[in-house]
Amino acid sequence: MGLRSLVASNSGLKPLLKAIGNARCQAWDLIHGVDTCGDVPLASLDFQSQNKTAGLEYQSHHPKIIRAGLAALEIRPENFTFMDFGCGKGRVLLVASEFPFRRIVGIEFAPLLADTARSNLKSYRGGRQRCTAIEVITVDATEYALTPEPQVLYFYSPFAPSVLDQVVQNIEGSLQRSPRELLILFSGSLKMRDSAFGSHPKFERLQRGHYMDIYRYRSS
Ligand SMILES: C[S@@+](CC[C@H](N)C(=O)[O-])C[C@H]1O[C@@H](n2cnc3c(N)ncnc32)[C@H](O)[C@@H]1O
Repeated sequence: MGLRSLVASNSGLKPLLKAIGNARCQAWDLIHGVDTCGDVPLASLDFQSQNKTAGLEYQSHHPKIIRAGLAALEIRPENFTFMDFGCGKGRVLLVASEFPFRRIVGIEFAPLLADTARSNLKSYRGGRQRCTAIEVITVDATEYALTPEPQVLYFYSPFAPSVLDQVVQNIEGSLQRSPRELLILFSGSLKMRDSAFGSHPKFERLQRGHYMDIYRYRSS
């Protein structure tokens, strides 16, 4: 029996696995001198945005999962800018900095999370950093205008379809104006993946993984 079916058939295991996951996450933070753990509901944060209720709470994958997703891209990172749409406390930016991307950008609309990400960038102790041109921009994803350069865009369950649809439209508009190489790493429920880029004729799915899909923009 696989781990997933074992957990499904034994509900008592779920909290135990969550506690183990939290402990591993705390250990990673401690070793790297950062604060990226925990689930943070947006309702608990004091900020105003018309998209606040459509935003999903902050949480992050274990660094191993993020690293595996990045490694699966099979690109030369030095030719790309990496962007995390809804970067929260910035864990993905830190893991992405192990790859020699041209630059790394996180966008986040919750000011407290964006500030935590900036302070994590300063305090991070990681021997393997190969990109140090990293910035965090406090902005709503629907208002961010992409710069016309080759990009890898990362999404981890950031927002409900009402917001996601606007963001996908903005990305497509930018690509139509400035055709270029663009890859998407998208993590979330299969339903969310399918309705975001999966059902879009201009995006080709290159890979479906357990945690994330990879899509490429079809420029012709
Ligand atoms: C599930 S978390 C993922 C965090 C990060 N990408 C990671 O994987 O570690 C989703 C993030 O999206 C942010 N978010 C939600 N709606 C947003 C919006 N409209 N504009 C920018 N960020 C948003 C949330 O505040 C939260 O930090």
